[in-house]
Formats: sequence, C-alpha cells, structure tokens
Amino acid sequence: MDVIKVEGGLPIHGEVTVEGAKNSALKLMAATIMAPGVNTLTNVPNISDVHVMGKVLKRLGATIEVVDEHTLVIDTTNVNNWETPYELVAKMRASTAVMGPLLARFGKAVVAMPGGCNIGARKIDLHILGLEALGVEFEVAHGNIHASAPNGVIGTTVTLEFASVGATENLIMASVHAKGTTVIDNAAREPEIVDLANMLNEMGAKVRGAGTPVIEIEGVSELHPVTHAVVGDRIEAGTFIAAAAMAGGPVRVRGFNPDHLGLVLKKYEAMGVKIEREPDGVIASSEGRLKSVDIQTLPFPGFPTDMQAQTMAMLSLADGQCVITENVFENRFMFAGEIARMGADIRIEGHHAIVRGVERLSGAQVESPELRGGASLVLAGLVAEGETTVSNIYHIERGYERFVEKLRGLGANVWRDTVPDVSVED
Ligand code: UD1
Repeated sequence: MDVIKVEGGLPIHGEVTVEGAKNSALKLMAATIMAPGVNTLTNVPNISDVHVMGKVLKRLGATIEVVDEHTLVIDTTNVNNWETPYELVAKMRASTAVMGPLLARFGKAVVAMPGGCNIGARKIDLHILGLEALGVEFEVAHGNIHASAPNGVIGTTVTLEFASVGATENLIMASVHAKGTTVIDNAAREPEIVDLANMLNEMGAKVRGAGTPVIEIEGVSELHPVTHAVVGDRIEAGTFIAAAAMAGGPVRVRGFNPDHLGLVLKKYEAMGVKIEREPDGVIASSEGRLKSVDIQTLPFPGFPTDMQAQTMAMLSLADGQCVITENVFENRFMFAGEIARMGADIRIEGHHAIVRGVERLSGAQVESPELRGGASLVLAGLVAEGETTVSNIYHIERGYERFVEKLRGLGANVWRDTVPDVSVED
C-alpha cells in the first residue's frame, strides 16, 4: 500500500509553480470533441483524473499524443462513438462533461449514470433539466442516461436553481451549435468556466458573459481546432499558500492569477497570514499563531469548497474558536474525523463545523477521505509533532502533480513509502 509520510516540524520556504487547473483541463479536453481535427492543449496537469479523461476520449474514437509532460495533442477527427461507459464514469464523475460536446457534435450521447461519491450524492438533475429546456430528450435505462436531440438543440433561456459548475459547462457546450441564442441565468462564475468559454471562442464559438451570472451562447455552425493553454490551478496554489501559512514560509507560489483566490486571500490575511500579490502568484508567510475566523463556502466568487479542508487544517491550530459552514456539498467534513486523530478539536453539527484551535497536533496514521482532505492531512503533518502516515493517497494523486516532490523542494521532510496492507478479517 502506498502512503505519504511526513516528519513534522521543519519550516518550509522557497518557490513552487502550480500546474494547469484540473477542473479546467478536464472540460477543455471534453470540448475538443466539438472541433474535429488536431487540437493542442498546453499546461495540462499530469494527474490521474486527466489520464481518465484521456481514456474517455480514446473510447470515443479520439487519438491522443503526449508531446511532453504537459502538452496533449488531441485528434478528434475520427470520433465516431457517443457512449461513455460506467467503468470510466465511476472512476471520475467529471466524465459526464462529454455529454454537452457529444450532443453538440452528434445530437446524441449515452453516459453512464454517475453514482454518489464520497463528498455527497452529487446529482446531475440540473444538467438534465437545463438540457431538456434546450430540446434534449432523456431516457434512463440500465444505469445509462440516453440523451438525444432529434430536432437539434434549440436556444432558449435556462435559469439554474443553483450555480452548478458542471451544469453550466454542459449547457454552454451543448448550446454551441444550437439554433438561435441560449441564455444561462444564474450561471456558475468560476475561472475555469471563463477558461472554457475563452477556448470555445478561439474555436469560433460565440459565448458571451462567462464569469458573470448571465452567459449567452449564439449558435454557430462549426468549430475549428485550436491550441490553448490551461489556466493556472487556483486550488493547487491555495493548498501551497495554506502550507506556507501553517509552516511559516515565505513561499512564492507562481503560475496562477491571485484574483482567482480573492476571498481566500482576504480571509487568510484576516487570520494573520502575510500575502504579497504578484502578477502571476503570491508570496505567503506567517509568524506566530494564526487567528480564528469564520468561513462559509459558496460558489465563486465565494469561498471555494475545494479550499475548505486546507483551511480547516489551518484553523485547527489557530487561536480561538470559529465556525466553518459548508454550503456546496452535503458531506464534505470527513477530513474533520481524520485530523481529530491528530488532536484537532472539531465538532460537526449538520453543515457547520465548530473548530476550537488547539496548541499542537501530533503525528498519527490517517486516511485520505477525498482529494482535498487528503492533501490537507499532509499539510497538518508538516506541523504536527512526530511522524504522520497518510494512506489512500490515490485520492491526492487525482488532483496534485508531484505533490511530495514539490513539498520537498520547499524543505519539508515528506516522502512516499510502501507499507504492508494489513487487512483485518472479522
Ligand atoms: C465542480 C468541481 C469541484 C468543485 C465543485 C464546486 C470539477 C471536475 N469539479 O464539481 O472540484 O468542488 O465544482 O465548486 O470541475 N448539484 C445538484 N444537481 C446537479 C448538479 C449539482 O444537486 O445537477 C449539486 C451537487 O450535488 C453539489 C452542488 O450542486 O452539492 C455543486 O455542484 P457543482 O457546482 O455542479 O460541482 P461539480 O461540477 O460536480
């Protein structure tokens, strides 16, 4: 069993560059389906979720050449299949992002129904309701969603009940060739959506308003292939900023736009973290104990749910008591149970976590509950007394490229190890 081990107590400092954003790269890869020909994506993170999306595209008939570690050449000329099987959707829910592009290119898509996942039920009803309004018909049979647009996708106004990232992306992509204009009201505003709209516009689409709550898509007859660089990963950046805030710094985190972490940086400053903004990143450092502040997660530009666990790790050592409210996913506090094994004092009440800062954490054996929670356990290990062993690290590798190497580059005493998998039978 592969684990990450950390010996706590070493300060970290230096410079780290983040990769392209996982949450953007996956959707950009899906979007290449709509521009038949040879597309090139640069700044693609080399992480397992990207490998899964590569498998999805290959299954649909695309070919992918890995030119270098971060450049993918995706030829979608011969995409001739519109079915995404369960084994791939079960590995990664974001595989459902091919539904919009397949509908746009073929007027049909068969996508396995995603199950729940470890941060909640994560339904796709908003994707389906929105697409139905655009004339797409759905049938669910044998665990698969069959979508078809017999009369083509027809532009109309869709008001989302919740500013869902995935639904906004699928609706934008499905509407690219729609008859007339589609308006998405209460659209998600995440920077990754802006990146997707930018790439689609480079391909010849007409998408306006991305980054605002109202996005308009005027249907065009075809898209052409492009070369596009994936936007920097604000969540990977935030994770290293949290590491610097916990273990001292200064750490220069480069390769992302600090405006994409607006509220996170403001909250961290309120906690006592020193942040110097630069055009392509920040320098983060801290001295002494952080102060407690309340946090509530919300869609962008609110505090990102993907930074909640890292921030909980920081707050578990801060001076005072605070409340973290999780408004985006119903089950995203599993990290609290694990960091409690290291001595954190956290009480969960529904979608609130009451965190009482403790003076110290102590190293322990802990298990990654999910991607961000796993990375946050490594951060907690950086400042805990003694050794921390984090298992289930495949979660971390879904979204962080060379996480251990990058932390070692900053001076942390962290390494990957293989330990015997002891299973207990009852
Ligand atoms: C994306 C990100 C994820 C991030 C999340 C919120 C990717 C690959 N993942 O996930 O890292 O945490 O945005 O910023 O980009 N919901 C429904 N019905 C739907 C769609 C969503 O009830 O049809 C609910 C979800 O269960 C969840 C909430 O809405 O509770 C937010 O989901 P959404 O914004 O769609 O997140 P994802 O696109 O799945």
